[in-house]
Amino acid sequence: MSQTRLRRPTPALLAGFRAALERGWSADNVRGAVAAQETLQRLDTEPEVFFQTTDDPQAKGPPVKLPDGSERARIPGLQRWIWDEDDSGDGFCGSIGLRWAAGGAPLPPHVLGHIGYAVVPWKQGQGHATRALGLLLPLAREQGLLQVEITTDVDNTVSQRVITSNGGVLRERFVKGAEYGSKPGLRFVIDLR
Ligand SMILES: CC(C)(COP(=O)(O)OP(=O)(O)OC[C@H]1O[C@@H](n2cnc3c(N)ncnc32)[C@H](O)[C@@H]1OP(=O)(O)O)[C@@H](O)C(=O)NCCC(=O)NCCS
Repeated sequence: MSQTRLRRPTPALLAGFRAALERGWSADNVRGAVAAQETLQRLDTEPEVFFQTTDDPQAKGPPVKLPDGSERARIPGLQRWIWDEDDSGDGFCGSIGLRWAAGGAPLPPHVLGHIGYAVVPWKQGQGHATRALGLLLPLAREQGLLQVEITTDVDNTVSQRVITSNGGVLRERFVKGAEYGSKPGLRFVIDLR
């Protein structure tokens, strides 16, 4: 079984992430290849802004783009790279992020859950996402969260399995905002107490 770790993104670890972006993979599940190009551009022109958002409890990073092209103020968050310690080449497997509202407030409606993740296609099906979510939950606890919400598309059974394997339970079916095309989604909750 592969060893999965979470690593804080640093310039020294950038090669695998950059290679994945160049293949069109993106940590942004909704905006996909367009977001990949934007991230590559940011890495070329203002890498310090990219690395600032990997640990951003004060939400000092730039606004976040939504699928309809609109922008919203960033909320506090952090990003970690999912790493395969047993990979003899580059260990980069994907990305997982946590975001939360300041002061324990509920998430704004346009933020689809506290946690988002994506694994590169060539590393999928090896348990990396399941283990990465398990490794991220203590970081959510450290931020004082008592529970986290994670949303998925109705047909994303793989992601739903990742959540339920980590103790998540389905709370509700909901309709995403117009920024996301008003599509149906599922909202899961993982209790951290
Ligand atoms: C969802 C995603 C992150 C899962 O990553 P992963 O590392 O392949 O997930 P895991 O290997 O931990 O697998 C989770 C479960 O799904 C199963 N699974 C994985 N890939 C599968 C596939 N292609 N077909 C069927 N089942 C699959 C695994 O067997 C595992 O089930 P189990 O716990 O019963 O063994 C990955 O598919 C992905 O990046 N998808 C695109 C982005 C996305 O949808 N992100 C989540 C948004 S909510």
